[in-house]
Amino acid sequence: MSATPALIEATKLSVDVPAKWLPFARVKPLSILLDVSLAIRSGEIVCMVGESGSGKTTFGRALLGLVKPSSGRITLEGAALADFSAKSFRAVRRQAALLFQDPLSSFNPRQRIGAMIAEPRRIARSGSTRMEDLVALAQQVGLSERFLSRFPHALSGGQARRAAVARALSVIPKLIVADEPTAGLDVSVQGGVLNLFLELREQHRTAFLVITHNLSVARHIADRIVILYLGRVVESGPASEIFRAPKHPYTRALLDSEPVPDPAKRRTEPPVLGEVPSIAARPEGCEFHTRCPFAQARCRVEAPTLADEPGHRQVACHFPLPAASAAAVRGLHVVSR
Ligand SMILES: Nc1ncnc2c1ncn2[C@@H]1O[C@H](COP(=O)(O)OP(=O)(O)OP(=O)(O)O)[C@@H](O)[C@H]1O
Ligand SMILES: [Mg+2]
Repeated sequence: MSATPALIEATKLSVDVPAKWLPFARVKPLSILLDVSLAIRSGEIVCMVGESGSGKTTFGRALLGLVKPSSGRITLEGAALADFSAKSFRAVRRQAALLFQDPLSSFNPRQRIGAMIAEPRRIARSGSTRMEDLVALAQQVGLSERFLSRFPHALSGGQARRAAVARALSVIPKLIVADEPTAGLDVSVQGGVLNLFLELREQHRTAFLVITHNLSVARHIADRIVILYLGRVVESGPASEIFRAPKHPYTRALLDSEPVPDPAKRRTEPPVLGEVPSIAARPEGCEFHTRCPFAQARCRVEAPTLADEPGHRQVACHFPLPAASAAAVRGLHVVSR
């Protein structure tokens, strides 16, 4: 590992939300994220993967100060943020751009797309806001000139997402947190957006946290993968190794549920292992045991810790899958949008 500090690093980051008051009982706060640690280096593309509700968006937002962590630490280029105040996050925000999961929610409905994608340049007083340069910026993400004069409501979901990418690239940041950046895009455009990320990494050493439930996105671009389950990291490591030999049964299940383009190779087994538990009713022991086909007695009572494994990998499982395991976790009903 290199001695230079990570561009950004979260250590044991947790996020709680107050639980609602029930008529006769005060319920403990709900934990959305639990002790998530993750370092991202310049030029690195880290994909955070997990089912809907696993806490991916919450982590991305917490990293940029849009959600207040209840505990943990964030360092930016080796310097710890003093606290989780807006002031502390100012330095992070100067270096980072967030591509929101729902791009329209981040747009000013009264601002034309051209003005919107020019805004970061205007604020940073860097880069050209001349029409021809804004057209070039929009064209990079496949939006033609005519979209620059439109208002957000006149855009389709895919066009809005592309406009959001153009805005994020307006002043090249050191870090882009991209929350489901390809959702709602045609397959051809999806590849274009991901290739643009790869180009930025090559040319500017931009780092990425790409949040996705779509493993084919991770397959395309990830250097490293972090798998979240109910707000905890259950496995992490180099992408190639995770795809080659997942160690956590949950990772294995996610890989097995990846859509297969060839109809002849498609699996037909019905979903059998049930739904994701609620964060309000976390299972005892290993929180995955209720869906794990390999669960044993120990898994029902003792929570595994996230342990280091050779090859810069980590796994939280009492019985990690051996590399040669051919056992597939078939039929796990994986929830995605
Ligand atoms: N402000 C909040 N108050 C209460 N619960 C919340 C809040 N924000 C998020 N949650 C809950 O926290 C969990 C994680 O949410 P989050 O949006 O981070 O998941 P996600 O992995 O991004 O899911 P998706 O794939 O659907 O986008 C969910 O159960 C969600 O309902
Ligand atoms: Mg999300």
